[in-house]
Amino acid sequence: MIYAIGIGPGSFETMTYEAVKAIENSEVIVGYKTYINLIVDMIKDKEVISNGMMQEIDRVKKAVEISKTGKTVAVISSGDAGVYGMAGLVLELAEGEEVKIISGVTASTAAAAVLGAPLMHDFCHISLSDLMTPLDLIYKRVELAAECDFVICLYNPRSNGRPDYLKKSIELMKKHKQGTTPVGIVRNVSRNNQEVNICTLDTIDYEIVDMLSIVIIGNKSSYIDNNKIITRRGYENKR
Ligand SMILES: C[S@@+](CC[C@H](N)C(=O)[O-])C[C@H]1O[C@@H](n2cnc3c(N)ncnc32)[C@H](O)[C@@H]1O
Repeated sequence: MIYAIGIGPGSFETMTYEAVKAIENSEVIVGYKTYINLIVDMIKDKEVISNGMMQEIDRVKKAVEISKTGKTVAVISSGDAGVYGMAGLVLELAEGEEVKIISGVTASTAAAAVLGAPLMHDFCHISLSDLMTPLDLIYKRVELAAECDFVICLYNPRSNGRPDYLKKSIELMKKHKQGTTPVGIVRNVSRNNQEVNICTLDTIDYEIVDMLSIVIIGNKSSYIDNNKIITRRGYENKR
């Protein structure tokens, strides 16, 4: 039996009860070492297999191997296992082993709660990582999402190897969104060192954004009030 578990954005409080129970039920925990560190208190004396980033296939193959010996194994993702996480790969490589996906609180909704209520209307998730997606397709999605007035959540927004993709994405968005559109940047959501910045498309400071950050860009109905971002859902029109 293999669990693919989303452990939430970081704190124990943002982990679902189902995730906690699944970790308790597992005999072996497999995951990227940064995420294992987030749940180290819960692991106790369980067997742990952790390795680095970009070794996802090896990690899942190992989990399948362990499951075949009759042990219950947990493959850990941050946030939700099915949002840029390990759930898909576990299902693809399971070779007939039973798989249970345990959903978690993803970075966008955790950050939205910190920022106010920016996701009150249609929104989308776009990852700016071009490790597995061609860059021109990423930029096309960014521009079309902006043209359709989606609230846009950018995952993997900026790294040392990709310092300019966020700036280019914001430039594409500004073809369709006003410079005054609210932007929320949350770094380390739900972790001890959480940092929050509310700005606009015109005033965004790219230097404060890294791979531990998520960036949420509002739509035409979004505004900033009392240091919170609110996206109107349209109740006033209904009335
Ligand atoms: C490979 S994706 C994993 C997403 C994860 N499965 C989820 O549902 O949140 C990694 C990206 O998620 C975002 N992220 C994940 N956890 C975060 C957190 N606690 N604070 C801010 N951003 C986070 C960042 O944009 C990061 O670069």
